[in-house]
Amino acid sequence: MEQTFDTVLSTYQQAVERRLAASFTDETQPQRQLFEAMRYSLLAGGKRIRPVLVLEFCRLCGGTWEHALDFAAAIEMVHTYSLIHDDLPCMDNDDYRRGRLTNHKVYGEAQAVLAGDGLLTAAFSTIARADAPAEVRIEIVRTLAECAGEEGMVGGQVLDMAGEGKTLTGEELLAIHSRKTGALIVAACTMGVLAAQGSEAQLQAATDFANALGLAFQIRDDMLDVLGDAKKLGKAVHADEKKNTFVSLYGLPQCEAYLQAENAKALAALDAFSDTAFLRELTLRLASRDF
Ligand code: IPE
Ligand code: IPE
Ligand code: MG
Ligand code: MG
Ligand code: MG
Repeated sequence: MEQTFDTVLSTYQQAVERRLAASFTDETQPQRQLFEAMRYSLLAGGKRIRPVLVLEFCRLCGGTWEHALDFAAAIEMVHTYSLIHDDLPCMDNDDYRRGRLTNHKVYGEAQAVLAGDGLLTAAFSTIARADAPAEVRIEIVRTLAECAGEEGMVGGQVLDMAGEGKTLTGEELLAIHSRKTGALIVAACTMGVLAAQGSEAQLQAATDFANALGLAFQIRDDMLDVLGDAKKLGKAVHADEKKNTFVSLYGLPQCEAYLQAENAKALAALDAFSDTAFLRELTLRLASRDF
């Protein structure tokens, strides 16, 4: 019998949770409080969208998704580090994340910076140690580093901060969002293809899908800052007043149309693959998510 979307999603999520929960557990080391701070944010129950994309793209390209679990865990470590740093007083200055106090509220700013550093670094040792051919691991390291680094997420965060209080053009807003959020979504999808040693054509189609999904994802994130419920989101709403967001530039109704257009592009990119029911449903659910 064909598995339902929810069953597949929770199978992936549970496998990711188990893999993450097994990380940073050595209680004998003197710096165990650092491990605790890393686990505090890592195991706080995010949606795990990026790891799920890694696993599903691996399966879609003929790989065994269980073999991509280290890569899935690695991208979630990078994502969690980006959230810890994003919430710091010197950045978005937020008090709640994933339904709990932010890392720096519990452990202090210095520890939070270092917990983020620890997660970022551990992501790459996790990939390097994974049970996969060396050439696969190298390509995955390169992909994640490029997408997370100065040309990707970190670059986007810099542009996001630099744009505060200014009115940007649509093109400038896209330059921010494609980097700060889109790049890690691209990393997730293409890491899955690489894990399965998929073709160039599959890499390109995964990139096209991810670019559109990443944009739709950030549009929805911006909409939820206005429309959302802090309890459900696990983070504060109306936090983006000084920011350039899709909502501040276009208004809510146009955001919805923009989001639907990007979703249509994402779905069209999936035509390059067969057996895409799960990804199609995931795309639709993310567009209307309320958390
Ligand atoms: C939040 O990411 C930050 C953005 C890039 C919009 P998610 O919405 O994936 O956050 P979690 O992982 O579920 O907490
Ligand atoms: C964050 O974007 C993107 C990251 C690189 C973490 P936001 O600042 O909009 O994310 P939230 O709304 O705090 O989750
Ligand atoms: Mg931010
Ligand atoms: Mg933020
Ligand atoms: Mg946001």
